[in-house]
Amino acid sequence: MKTFFELMDEVLDKTVLFGYDRIGYSIRKQLWNETETQVSMTDKIAIITGANSGLGRATSLHLAQSGATLYLVCRNPKSGEMVRQDIIESSGNWKVFLEITDMSEPQQIKAFAKRFQSMESRLDILINNAGVLLNKRQENSEGLEKTFATNTLGYFLMTNLMLPHLLKSEAARIINVSSGGMYPVAVQLDDPQYHTRPYNGVTAYAESKRAEVILNEIWAHDLENQNVIVSAMHPGWADTKGVQNSLPTFRKMTQAILRTPEQGADTIIWLATNPHLTKQDSGQFWFDRKPRSIHRSLKTQHTREQAQKLWKLCCELGDWNGPYPII
Ligand SMILES: NC(=O)c1ccc[n+]([C@@H]2O[C@H](COP(=O)([O-])OP(=O)(O)OC[C@H]3O[C@@H](n4cnc5c(N)ncnc54)[C@H](OP(=O)(O)O)[C@@H]3O)[C@@H](O)[C@H]2O)c1
Repeated sequence: MKTFFELMDEVLDKTVLFGYDRIGYSIRKQLWNETETQVSMTDKIAIITGANSGLGRATSLHLAQSGATLYLVCRNPKSGEMVRQDIIESSGNWKVFLEITDMSEPQQIKAFAKRFQSMESRLDILINNAGVLLNKRQENSEGLEKTFATNTLGYFLMTNLMLPHLLKSEAARIINVSSGGMYPVAVQLDDPQYHTRPYNGVTAYAESKRAEVILNEIWAHDLENQNVIVSAMHPGWADTKGVQNSLPTFRKMTQAILRTPEQGADTIIWLATNPHLTKQDSGQFWFDRKPRSIHRSLKTQHTREQAQKLWKLCCELGDWNGPYPII
């Protein structure tokens, strides 16, 4: 028989409002085993993108406190270095390194991958977290729309470039930070960069986050027989710089009930540290430490051909000639 908190979890999952906020977090927390995140990570090497703020910063601090060797991938040298110093001071872990990389710039991601591979012989944990919601259409230096370039292509390139190193780990994990904002939209393949459609930042963000969960499924399938657990997740609603700058009205209305960055980061940390996670869990979409569906409606379902088309598009736009997964 289900416990009261298990039943509450199911109800909250359907309501969104009280599920994504701190009330949902507090209720679901009753179901969790806190020791699953209190694990020594001293033998682990991790990369986290967008580590200087919000969920990325909270995750980085926890991993540093657990003893991991950490590469903070940030685009802003000043705030990146400030956060690195802060994390070292708070954790007492000096194995925290800063790598300046703009995740919307394919050439910079490729350059970072080369640097990393010359410094480390393997990678245990990759956390794709850097993300943007831009209210005006912007382009990167190659003319790619920035939301797509950062949130979708950035995850695609970082993961594929790191795969050889992840495969050298005894038990690797890839964590893709997506968003519940992707629920209303289907994959967009006709004009993902808003060349012909009127730009809408919230929709562009949702589409880029939908693409992330499809890539997550492709990697999980492709790496089925490898020692890599691939996960996507969404954090609920957390009060971070991203929400403050991109969704000021939403933030004003919900501020009192938004999660803290630490609460939003909980499932990222759990996916990175939980010793009980197994290969069977690979490919799932998690929220509050539980697998959830990536669809709330039949309208957002994608076909195998669409997943293949998305992969091909990322290969072309990222100038990526790596192996093509059979999906
Ligand atoms: N907070 C929420 O409620 C919520 C909900 C759903 C999903 N998410 C997802 O959670 C992730 C983290 O967001 P957050 O809420 O923690 O927001 P945040 O505080 O704004 O953090 C976003 C991070 O991504 C970095 N970033 C953005 N574009 C980048 C680029 N081109 N290159 C390198 N780094 C870049 C930012 O760097 P700068 O500091 O230099 O801008 C920042 O460190 C995102 O993927 C977001 O979509 C958050």
